[in-house]
Amino acid sequence: MNFKEKNVLVTGAAGFIGSNLTIELVNLGANVIGFDNLFNGRIENIEEILENKSFKFIKGDIRDFNFLLEVFEGIDIIYHVAAFTSVPQSVLMPESCNDVNVNGTLNVLNAARKRDIEKIIYSSSSSVYGDTPTLPKKEDMPRHPISPYGVSKLACEGYMQVFHKIYGLRTLSLRYFNVFGPRQKDSPYSGVIAIWLGRLLNNKDLIIFGNGEQSRDFTYVKDVVHANLLAAEQGISGEIINIGAGAPITLSNLAKLMLKLTKKEKLNISYTDTRSGDIFHSYADISKAKELLNFQPKFNQEEGLKDYFNWYCHKYKVSLDLN
Ligand code: UD1
Repeated sequence: MNFKEKNVLVTGAAGFIGSNLTIELVNLGANVIGFDNLFNGRIENIEEILENKSFKFIKGDIRDFNFLLEVFEGIDIIYHVAAFTSVPQSVLMPESCNDVNVNGTLNVLNAARKRDIEKIIYSSSSSVYGDTPTLPKKEDMPRHPISPYGVSKLACEGYMQVFHKIYGLRTLSLRYFNVFGPRQKDSPYSGVIAIWLGRLLNNKDLIIFGNGEQSRDFTYVKDVVHANLLAAEQGISGEIINIGAGAPITLSNLAKLMLKLTKKEKLNISYTDTRSGDIFHSYADISKAKELLNFQPKFNQEEGLKDYFNWYCHKYKVSLDLN
């Protein structure tokens, strides 16, 4: 797609995935509105485009329907990335999770319908599968989410499809599998790779919740951004599509790999209680993404980790002796 003629709005534009996507869209010449309530998002994530004439940042909340109606005027494509993102936090605060993810998404859809938006691409999550035993996960498998977060994401996928069927709105849900990379925050509720990188840099042990045999299909954020661009280009809608690396790794092996790549093998890996709401294995079948989007991940986990560590060292002026 030639993004140069497009007016694109990204919800959650200052967050981890949203900021990576927003920066790429601006680089491709789109006119982009970045919408974020700055609750989890950080202006620092988008500082390099703040002065760009093709970019405008709007502070706002997806729970404010009237404001969405106002800012959606003249928009062609919406990437709906804003979300309550933490599984353990959703266990502590299910109402907040539902309010942001479900009510917020309904607002986005209703406002988009009123404004005749061309296409909405929704950032969903592999957590909708829950602990079903079959691996890899295929889009048409039964979904049994085991956390309030997973339930909320499943509800939003349902709304995306229903708005497509009933109102003819062109929607698409991308089900991401454990995304990592630049601009992911190191906080207790962030993804494990960002947390462990922070610990490594402070020479602290890596902590695993459970026995370390659980696995994830860690996906590099640049591949996720690429999938989002492809999703706008293709003429498909009403679909749900897995976006993953298609190569799972156990948490124990991930910890060892991160220690090896940073030559910090002397640090310990310690084990503690399993986290409530956690699924055990997660691994994507990406054949649908290959077929419908022509998607092919460009980074395996090791390449993604190295690219991320290099970015981090450059950005925060820290040094790591990388393998
Ligand atoms: C992550 C995302 C979620 C997304 C989902 C699927 C975050 C915060 N969550 O959920 O938004 O929808 O992937 O794409 O990015 N772990 C440790 N030690 C730690 C931290 C975590 O062992 O210090 C373990 C967890 O118990 C879990 C695994 O690492 O087994 C992954 O956890 P996490 O990175 O939080 O991701 P998910 O819960 O899978």
